[in-house]
Amino acid sequence: MSTITKPILKGRSFLAERDFTKGEFVYLIDLAEKLKHEKQQRIPHRHLEGKNIALLFEKPSTRTRCAFTVACIDLGAHPEYLGKDDIQLGKKESIEDTAKVLGRMFDGIEFRGFEHKKVEMLAEHSGVPVWNGLTEQWHPTQTLADFLTVKENFGRLEGIKFVYVGDGRNNVANSLLVGGALVGMDVRICAPKELFPEQEVIELAESLAKESGAIVTVTDEIDKAVAGADVIYTDVWVSMGEEDQFAERIALLAPYQVNMEMIEKTGNDQMIFLHCLPAFHDLETSYGMEIYKNHGLAEMEVTDAVFRSSHSKVFDQAENRMHTIKAVMAATLGNLQ
Ligand code: CP
Ligand code: NVA
Repeated sequence: MSTITKPILKGRSFLAERDFTKGEFVYLIDLAEKLKHEKQQRIPHRHLEGKNIALLFEKPSTRTRCAFTVACIDLGAHPEYLGKDDIQLGKKESIEDTAKVLGRMFDGIEFRGFEHKKVEMLAEHSGVPVWNGLTEQWHPTQTLADFLTVKENFGRLEGIKFVYVGDGRNNVANSLLVGGALVGMDVRICAPKELFPEQEVIELAESLAKESGAIVTVTDEIDKAVAGADVIYTDVWVSMGEEDQFAERIALLAPYQVNMEMIEKTGNDQMIFLHCLPAFHDLETSYGMEIYKNHGLAEMEVTDAVFRSSHSKVFDQAENRMHTIKAVMAATLGNLQ
């Protein structure tokens, strides 16, 4: 691994890709690579010895919660999980007051929830680093894990043809579009016009691309989008909190399912398939079964054949959530040499 040039991130929050320079963002990916290597070699890396970390979750989570918990413990910190019914956040106590209280007791705060404004307010009022574990608008720790997985497979980020197919205006799509533009990818969002990213997000990506040399494409044409792709990425068609929009989403997104035909259209044998997970690729969940009964779909955003194929790196990607989240906490709160 190349020598890491260390930017000063201590004391910073991690709320969205747009708050970081390319150098800072890439540094976090390089640091995650180093921490992953140290974990595999059982080399201790207790950069947060004695710290206390609050993990606030308004929405459910498997990967993000587990990644923060294990990363805290590996770093020598104590994680405290605070679910939506455990504290008053926004119900009987304002975000501002809660932030001030938590900031007096904890050294860092993770937040997963609905409005992005909430995580910004926690960062503004707590006085400690705050890390975004997913909001309606952004999912930046996911982007770090995704790009680490890309780097592990292709050895670089710049120029990678990174195609996101599906709901083009959700948190993951926004983060990948802006993140890809930041680091200099050929980043493409392929979605029906009704689900294009907001103009503000496209403009942000385009302005970052001018600096990084990235190429930014937003299109509803599948053949054009996937040609030559190194990465095809998809996410659920209906994000948490949008469940009432199921029927219309299925109608819009059915042609955008990632299947073997789409993979073949890339013309690239070495391409990889990524998904932030959880994924609906079979009938092994009660949720998937309900969709099957109500809408007749046995697979949704990705077919089981693609999900289980050799192209699929989704479980490496899930593991990388932990290494990258660890890097974010260590860099913003630890005493790294
Ligand atoms: N990808 C992701 O954020 O997964 P969880 O919702 O399980 O945390
Ligand atoms: N877009 C999805 C991502 C889940 C990790 C959601 O917000 O539900």
